[in-house]
Amino acid sequence: MSKLMTWIDDRFPLTPLWELAWGKYIAPKNFNFWYYFGSLAALVLVMQIGTGIWLTMDYKPDATLAFGSVEYIMRDVQWGWLIRYMHSTGASMFFVVVYLHMFRGLIYGSYRKPRELTWIFGCLIYLALMAEAFFGYLLPWGQMSYWGAQVIVNLFSAIPVIGGDLSTWIRGDYTISDVTLNRFFAFHVAALPLVLIALVAAHLIALHETGSNNPDGVEIKKQPKDPKTGLPLDGIYSHPYYTVKDIVGVVAFLAVFSAIVFFTPDMGGYFLESNNFIPANPLKTPPEIAPVWYFTPYYAMLRAVPSFLQTQVWGVIVMGASVLIFFVLPWLDRGAVKSIRYRGTLYKSFLAAFIVAFLILGYLGTVPVTVWGQFGDAAPFYGADRATVLSRFLTLVYFAFFLLMPWYTSRDKTKPQPDRVRWK
Ligand code: HEM
Repeated sequence: MSKLMTWIDDRFPLTPLWELAWGKYIAPKNFNFWYYFGSLAALVLVMQIGTGIWLTMDYKPDATLAFGSVEYIMRDVQWGWLIRYMHSTGASMFFVVVYLHMFRGLIYGSYRKPRELTWIFGCLIYLALMAEAFFGYLLPWGQMSYWGAQVIVNLFSAIPVIGGDLSTWIRGDYTISDVTLNRFFAFHVAALPLVLIALVAAHLIALHETGSNNPDGVEIKKQPKDPKTGLPLDGIYSHPYYTVKDIVGVVAFLAVFSAIVFFTPDMGGYFLESNNFIPANPLKTPPEIAPVWYFTPYYAMLRAVPSFLQTQVWGVIVMGASVLIFFVLPWLDRGAVKSIRYRGTLYKSFLAAFIVAFLILGYLGTVPVTVWGQFGDAAPFYGADRATVLSRFLTLVYFAFFLLMPWYTSRDKTKPQPDRVRWK
């Protein structure tokens, strides 16, 4: 084996590349549970590309054949059902993992100096992932694929002056049609996977430049070196230590993933909506159009905004802003420390309110606005839907987390951050 490696290394820098990318990457020694999700996101990306390639072998991107080809994959192609359910479950699990990964960034202030670009590449990945999921959802050509795409593309027509032409341009037709299916297919299987791979590479290159943050926010690069090992006092090599740790995460993740794929692949309508088992019918709108769960917090905010001056563009602006605002997070946080371990009550309260608002908005986006009935006709709510009023309030909480951040982080009573990492 070592002779083979020498032979290769003399001709191609395999060992130096491995050491640069992982083997000799020096990481803080106190990574905890929250540090599983970066490698898990990479695993899901690889799984989605692998299962996606196999699905493409039997899928037909043609409006008259698409729905039938998915049924064919499910019933006739050997192991087709497994590949398809792995891919549809993988889409949702990708968002589960990425949301937890982003949450880690929030609690430990990983987005802060000097990791702003790692964070920004992460935000771009998040946008690309949303586009990838949206394009992919049209491909089975079910009722929800069709009408979901119709609703989302129509949002662009709310933009003044150019909106109408813009949405026709995106569709390539006056309604969602075979032309739209073909171009969404091209984006889903070729363009966006390439963008995602490039962004993940940039994300990791930026991370390796600064080094990883950790649950204490201690910058190990600034620590003195241990005379025995030559490593920073709290640094260890990723291999074998984090190789072993990440394998534990992979095994636990695959157990959950398999349980979903084998026992409840539609996740009670959250991962695969029941309406999408009905072929697309451009003449029949389903009674309720709701996006898949990972988009619903944003969808709830879109629905919460009233249409002033006869235009719905305000809802579109609020929804766009709610995603884009993540980009400026590194410049909003003025806290004296990075990690939640040393933050004060103010930051903790705002973060908790933000998470609760995000989760409830996520729920509200899955149900009709009439779910809790209406208020009476009197002031101040004048017969408004209760769910809409709550969504409006939660939208304010969501934005307050970001917009008030410079204020509450600079006033927060923080504890001093230690020089060395803690073990517990
Ligand atoms: C395909 C999606 C993604 C992949 C494969 C990925 C991969 C990784 C990996 C392997 C790490 C190092 C291990 C770790 O810290 O867990 C990492 C760190 C990081 N990621 Fe991602 N990531 C993805 C998406 C995102 C997104 C959407 C964001 C935020 C918007 C983000 C923000 C960060 C930050 C701030 C770090 C540094 C964390 C620290 O050092 O504490 N990532 N990512």
